[in-house]
Amino acid sequence: MVELESIVSAALAEFAGCNDPAALENSKARYLGKSGRLSELLKSLGKLSPGERPAAGARINAAKESLETALVRRREELADQKLARQLAAEALDISLPGRGLGVGALHPITRTLERIEALFHSLGFSVADGPEIEDDFHNFTALNMPEDHPSRSMHDTFYVEGGMVLRTHTSPVQVRYMEAHPPPIKIIAPGRVYRVDSDATHSPMFHQVEGLWIDETVSFAELKGVFTDFMRRFFERDDLQLRFRPSFFPFTEPSAEIDMSFGDSWLEIAGAGQVHPNVLRAVDIDPERYQGFAFGMGSDRLAMLRYGVNDLRLFFENDLRFLRQFA
Ligand code: DAH
Repeated sequence: MVELESIVSAALAEFAGCNDPAALENSKARYLGKSGRLSELLKSLGKLSPGERPAAGARINAAKESLETALVRRREELADQKLARQLAAEALDISLPGRGLGVGALHPITRTLERIEALFHSLGFSVADGPEIEDDFHNFTALNMPEDHPSRSMHDTFYVEGGMVLRTHTSPVQVRYMEAHPPPIKIIAPGRVYRVDSDATHSPMFHQVEGLWIDETVSFAELKGVFTDFMRRFFERDDLQLRFRPSFFPFTEPSAEIDMSFGDSWLEIAGAGQVHPNVLRAVDIDPERYQGFAFGMGSDRLAMLRYGVNDLRLFFENDLRFLRQFA
């Protein structure tokens, strides 16, 4: 059976020459398929004499097995080659250092607010908050600034739809808190406020911390004591000097601006005063029985002083090179 040998060697050569799986499967069909060349040969066994048949059949089956083995090996070779090509294309340098996990840290303004909250907490104040989109009544009217009051122009207000404003100060939280809670009241209200203003010391969004202490005998003396104690602890300086400078706010009487000593000069830190009787009346608190003080301080200014930052805008640009210094 010379034909058998030539079929086997032709098949082996063809398998070896196939460079992709589809071509290999086609050539398998040509030799081992139903009407492939080996199957045709098996069918022709009928033409042989009964004596010759077993030996010829055995040789054909052996050839078939060896082709099947060759086929499986070639399939594996092609799969290995494909994987090798893929690995080479997606080369990965596992010796490079990893990127590491980015560990977050609190923003310096947040850290400052938390420090302020902790200090006032130790003086018996709890923390309240209110909405940043505020109505005219809470932002102005209830604070003794009626419709045409000139003091409204002290605030460069962002107006939003529906007659609402972005709150220009944290003072409306005083009103909201007093509407919901009877005295005694002893709170601070830290949060974002908004004004049409932008330069190295003004940002259109900035932070204030409001303070409010209402009870039967709370006086300006308590205001001086509480605020001085807070400031000295905040800056960790027992000799820190404060100045209470007479001023005007519609919602306090008398009113003061609080300055802190800074080198040879004074820096304005807060507005404050005894809560105006009209403000108490607007929230149904009897001013004959209750009194107290309020203040509103610019906490970003405190963060700037504490961290030695001279441009307020740096806090809000979110440049990681700046923020990382506080992590
Ligand atoms: N709300 C004032 C402002 O933003 C600051 C202020 C002054 C708040 C006096 C007070 C206060 O509570 O009593 O300029």
